[in-house]
Amino acid sequence: MQKIDHHELDQFIEANSLLFGTVQRPGIMLTSKNEIVKFIYPRKKFSKAIFFSQAANFEKNAKALLEKGITGPIVSKTAHCQAANTYYVVYEKLAGEEVRDLCDQSQLQHLTELAHYLAELHDKGIYFRALHLGNVLKLEDGNFALIDIADLKTKSRSLSAFARGRNIAHMFNVSEDKVYFQQFGVNRFLEAYFQRAKLTDTKKGLLVWRMKRRLRADMRGGLGRL
Ligand SMILES: Nc1ncnc2c1ncn2[C@@H]1O[C@H](COP(=O)(O)OP(=O)(O)OP(=O)(O)O)[C@@H](O)[C@H]1O
Ligand SMILES: [Mg+2]
Repeated sequence: MQKIDHHELDQFIEANSLLFGTVQRPGIMLTSKNEIVKFIYPRKKFSKAIFFSQAANFEKNAKALLEKGITGPIVSKTAHCQAANTYYVVYEKLAGEEVRDLCDQSQLQHLTELAHYLAELHDKGIYFRALHLGNVLKLEDGNFALIDIADLKTKSRSLSAFARGRNIAHMFNVSEDKVYFQQFGVNRFLEAYFQRAKLTDTKKGLLVWRMKRRLRADMRGGLGRL
């Protein structure tokens, strides 16, 4: 990780274009080489150690995903500016659209493929804690990719039914995305997930049990018999 001073940080910010955030506090920038720069700031609820590991984890997780054959950002640089209490990560921009934007354009059919993709991630031992429709891109080549990968766990074995249920419930509970799952059908999503996931009927039952316990009431109401 490169160490930079405040002046170097300001110069770096000036040389790039702002995509999200403000010049005083950039969120996401684009470099002249078409790379994404993600800035990481301390959050109140995080300890200093977690703050540091957000930047380091991003890089580590990018490598872990690549090793498992999953498309994600390829990191070219991480830097820390102690004076500004900021980290940033530079990585390849992927050509695609957020699944949330596609749903917003009424293209809910992508949720079937997303269910298949999520089953594959879980079979490969990936627990993406920041899972929501704004953090998954549908690429121009038809594949999906994960972004915002600081908060992700990789295991050598496939995920347990409980972990899968928890992860799916988390995704269904995200307030910006709920409406799309309700329109598409929570059951329809789960059926697509089960088509692809390597799970026995007992494990499917455990997953649903776990998921239901984590679901908020308004989403639970949309579940019929599975
Ligand atoms: N590798 C990438 N390729 C293409 N677009 C990207 C990439 N990384 C980020 N983006 C775009 O920038 C947006 C925001 O990025 P990201 O999800 O990493 O940060 P964030 O959601 O603003 O931050 P956080 O979730 O940490 O508060 C994405 O939703 C996506 O539109
Ligand atoms: Mg995000």
